[in-house]
Amino acid sequence: MARTLSQYHCQSCGAVTAKWSGKCDACGEWNTLSEERVEATPGKKRKAGGRAIELVLLAKSEQTSPARRLVTGLEEFDRVTGGGLVAGSAILIGGDPGIGKSTLLLQLVCKLAAAGRKAAYITGEESADQVRMRAQRLGVMDSTATLATATNAVDIAETVRSTPDLDLLVIDSIQTMYVPNLESAPGTVSQVRAAAHELIRAAKTSDAAIVFVGHVTKDGAIAGPRVLEHMVDCVLYFEGDRSHHFRILRGVKNRFGATDEIGVFEMSEQGLQQVPNPSELFLGERQHNVAGTAVFAGLEGTRPLLVEIEALVAPSSLASPRRNVVGWDSGRLAMLTAVLEARCGVPLSGRDIFLNVAGGLRIAEPAADLAVAAALVSSVSAKPLPARAVFFGEVALSAELRQVPQAETRLKEAAKLGFEQGFMPKFSKKVMPPSGISTTQPDNLSDFIELLSGRY
Ligand code: TYD
Ligand code: MG
Repeated sequence: MARTLSQYHCQSCGAVTAKWSGKCDACGEWNTLSEERVEATPGKKRKAGGRAIELVLLAKSEQTSPARRLVTGLEEFDRVTGGGLVAGSAILIGGDPGIGKSTLLLQLVCKLAAAGRKAAYITGEESADQVRMRAQRLGVMDSTATLATATNAVDIAETVRSTPDLDLLVIDSIQTMYVPNLESAPGTVSQVRAAAHELIRAAKTSDAAIVFVGHVTKDGAIAGPRVLEHMVDCVLYFEGDRSHHFRILRGVKNRFGATDEIGVFEMSEQGLQQVPNPSELFLGERQHNVAGTAVFAGLEGTRPLLVEIEALVAPSSLASPRRNVVGWDSGRLAMLTAVLEARCGVPLSGRDIFLNVAGGLRIAEPAADLAVAAALVSSVSAKPLPARAVFFGEVALSAELRQVPQAETRLKEAAKLGFEQGFMPKFSKKVMPPSGISTTQPDNLSDFIELLSGRY
């Protein structure tokens, strides 16, 4: 009989140790080591030598064809994956519980089935009836997509191999899958890794694309080992503020395309609806003439996106005033407040600052600096910013305004939505604004504040 031995696997980074300890030596996380029993391989049975492999030339005489892609028809999804699912590739989608991962993937499977493709949805989390109930809600009860409730990865892999022409397999979720000859529980590092490996191999041999749902930990990373992210070709996050109905699909890794595109959806009573015009949605609830709000003309991938930034600067009773930020980087806010204070004399120290990106969107672009600065200055001076104006530009530590990419795309989107003025940095190449919108290009942040005739 095979001997088993205990190992301790870090559930955060996947490191393996022979002894338990409270803290993982590899990643420094506490309480992440859990015992897993593995079969001991007797040393003498291991083969000593290897077999020579054939090395081939990188340059091939005939043209290599580009990856075969399956366009799903769900445009927002296709945009994020870089133009559809690549045959034989593996995709991991992470997101908070209840954000809509299962809904999105069920819609995807049904969409493909409706286009005559073979798509299967395997769930280890819900019963077939629960999935049917969701399908009913989505209005896709008559779909030809196939369904199974299973958690044994070896069985699923066998099913994939014996189902010819399968185009897409969805596994909801990888944390519920297990490989029977491993003793550890489903969801542990070794099970997640082994099950994913088994399933990806099966999908690759039969050229089906495979999509895994991955749970996330409370700090937002995909639960289980980082190795899972290394094993797949594409990692997407489905995110959004649960109190809002907007959902954003964001790429963080993509072996076959760019990762800066986002897909925007709206959660409705009949599932996720695609949002081809996100700016209209994000500005929908905007109130005009309120001090402390500015419209940022942003860019997500190739798509312009207008969002509202709200700031509130209030006297603080605390020794170290609050800096609450939702949807933006707090380090960036600290830098910007320092610049406003030290270079432009805007009194911000000793005051609480609350900053919010409306609609639950998260902005990573430095181009948002100018819009945030405008919102802060407007809140301090209690004066609304010019109506129908958008702002974009990066602020340097010297308070100079730095140029950002694609000014014309941003202005075009703003003009389309009825904005008449764009505040932005000076550009080395002349920017031709579309008709209906004028541009104001101050040199630095102090000039900008003066232009707003800020009194504070
Ligand atoms: P779900 O896809 O189960 O989330 P996840 O798999 O990420 O945990 O989505 C669950 C939420 O979405 C749930 O709170 C109900 C809501 N929902 C709708 O608002 N409309 C719908 O049509 C559906 C199917 C779900
Ligand atoms: Mg789910």
